[in-house]
Amino acid sequence: MAQFWKPGTEKPRLLEDEDGGVIFLSSSYSSSSSGYGYVSIEKQRQRLPVYKYRTAILYLVESHATTIVVGETGSGKTTQIPQFLKEAGWADGGRVIACTQPRRLAVQAVASRVAEEMGVKLGEEVGYTIRFEDISNPDLTRIKFLTDGVLLREMMDDPLLTKYSVIMVDEAHERSISTDIVLGLLKKIQKRRPELRLIISSATIEAKSMSNFFLSSKRRQALEGEELRPGLEPAILSVEGRGFNVQIHYVEDPVRDYVQAAVSTVLLINDKEPPGDILVFLTGQDDIDAAIKLLTEEARSNGKNSSGLIILPLYSGLTRAEQDLIFSPTPKGKRKVVISTNIAETSLTLEGIVYVVDSGFSKQRFYNPISDIENLVVAPISKASARQRAGRAGRLRPGKCYRLYTEEYFLNEMSIQGIPEIQRSNLVSCVIQLKALGIDNILGFDWPASPSPESMIRALEVLYSLGVLDDDAKLTSPVGFQVAEIPLEPMIAKMILSSNELGCSDEIITIAAVLSIQSIWFSARGAQKELDEAKLRFAAAEGDHVTFLNIYKGFLQSGKSSKWCHKNFINYHAMKKVMEIRELLRRIALRLGIVLKSCETDMQLVRKAVTAGFFANACRLEAYSHGGMYKTIRGSQEVYIHPSSVLFRVNPKCVIYHSLVSTDRQYMRNVMSIDPSWLTEVAPHFYQQQRHNPTIH
Ligand code: CDP
Ligand code: MG
Repeated sequence: MAQFWKPGTEKPRLLEDEDGGVIFLSSSYSSSSSGYGYVSIEKQRQRLPVYKYRTAILYLVESHATTIVVGETGSGKTTQIPQFLKEAGWADGGRVIACTQPRRLAVQAVASRVAEEMGVKLGEEVGYTIRFEDISNPDLTRIKFLTDGVLLREMMDDPLLTKYSVIMVDEAHERSISTDIVLGLLKKIQKRRPELRLIISSATIEAKSMSNFFLSSKRRQALEGEELRPGLEPAILSVEGRGFNVQIHYVEDPVRDYVQAAVSTVLLINDKEPPGDILVFLTGQDDIDAAIKLLTEEARSNGKNSSGLIILPLYSGLTRAEQDLIFSPTPKGKRKVVISTNIAETSLTLEGIVYVVDSGFSKQRFYNPISDIENLVVAPISKASARQRAGRAGRLRPGKCYRLYTEEYFLNEMSIQGIPEIQRSNLVSCVIQLKALGIDNILGFDWPASPSPESMIRALEVLYSLGVLDDDAKLTSPVGFQVAEIPLEPMIAKMILSSNELGCSDEIITIAAVLSIQSIWFSARGAQKELDEAKLRFAAAEGDHVTFLNIYKGFLQSGKSSKWCHKNFINYHAMKKVMEIRELLRRIALRLGIVLKSCETDMQLVRKAVTAGFFANACRLEAYSHGGMYKTIRGSQEVYIHPSSVLFRVNPKCVIYHSLVSTDRQYMRNVMSIDPSWLTEVAPHFYQQQRHNPTIH
């Protein structure tokens, strides 16, 4: 408990003042009510800050092609605006109101909340669609929540998105890669469909750059001498719904282990502070599970003071029942501790939070076009994120935020804003989607933030090697079009197409389904040894992909038994999801003319099919140091096999991996051994160029 806290000087105002061009409506909103006790849903709606702006929002949407709504998280943007639009008739005549979210879990949570508020069954008037899960009805659904990725997919069948009357692009400040692509495309669609209305909503002032993005089109049109249509200039509405003051505390000295520090801080709060729930920001399932284990142990040894803690994780991939627990009110005399990823920063609002513990980190995607390596890295958040996180504590009453970093660090070292995802991602999926939508000049595309030309060239090169693009950088027929049609990363799609030629499509779609979910293993909180033993029962010498096939076979043989899963440390829900995704993929394959065929025991065919998709991720063993050091064949980057892989410490000479995660080192997840001669066989262009240009790093 040796944690030294000092009060900070920062007083976070949740919305900074806007300058020119902003319609600023004042509001007498105050949320002095207690979050507990029964309040009718209608009352709750009326108390939300956006309620006061109902008329203003409807007026702006009516009179402007684009409306930008900035409002503090929890002010009711996501749940209320679609309902206002519906009440005002925007869904009449069979039209649909769409609301996009960057995160799947947020889509599910807000859709079910809105269905509940409207008193309708989810999947009817209010529905949602995320990848591999469509809870909507084309005849009945009037308000549809969807990920921005799914909206992109919908454009492939209906390029002008004709069924939607209004599209609300929500959480625009997150600047996810799909949000940026969607914004660029919607701007194009607007020119063809002047009646389409866009609402761009955002939690922070970042909306300003959005506005400029839409303004620039006006300027450009004016320059081109085109007649300006009225209302083409976007309107900005700032929803003022001030949270309560949040007292900021910093650590006096940098912490070495933020999981341990977070746990100690939670216990300290529980010991010293009055009732109120605690929200802890960590980075991902691994550190969240570790914190829960530690907190549970320390709370137990701490005696009765900690017995009132309800400790809950919050990350994507939770089951519906687990999600419900997060949103249910805390029983009297108890204190909820929600340990979350970035998702609770702005996407989801939890009532009852009074204390926030901020690790200062989140998991972020980083891509280096020189080494052609993309991985997930635990990286420092920005000041904007830190302020958002702190703001979560001031919803109910004045709150406190404990930052696990020093004030000096916050002031002098944290960046002001995060970098848009498109500038730190591999662009392979992005390029193929734009190509499929007929956007040929990708560098000249109207991006809210331009991706780097190096990343773009890398992506084009990989797609060319995959046989997806031809010499003129156009989609090839049929491979390019087929790959674009499969709703999975292009490398997996290519693997599926190759498996058809090799005669192992039955096995490969199982592998594709397993690779689409986070993990099929049960997270082994404190039972690592048992988990490792269970893995050994299925482990295949060829690596993780073949191991998945063994598990799938075992699961079928057990009669899809949950007991069998439990015994083998396999996550039963994950396996059910694998079955569902596999069935969807089987249907997509059928549509592409692929009839499933099994190669029985010839695993070499399976490995070749995987190589045909993932040749770019090939690595060679360089040294036995640190349990086996590999280097990527293309970029000579140092990588290691992740301890969760069945090939950990086995160290085959040549492997390919599915993805990389980075902690102290770069780790390969889902690894398979290959014969290096296959590489030049499946991707001659890609590996020959390496020989001509060996200094490519
Ligand atoms: O989008 P914004 O952050 O402005 O707010 P919102 O998500 O529409 O949330 C408005 C209110 O609905 C908040 O008080 C949330 O706590 C509540 N809500 C909820 O109780 N359950 C959900 N699944 C989603 C929202
Ligand atoms: Mg929202």
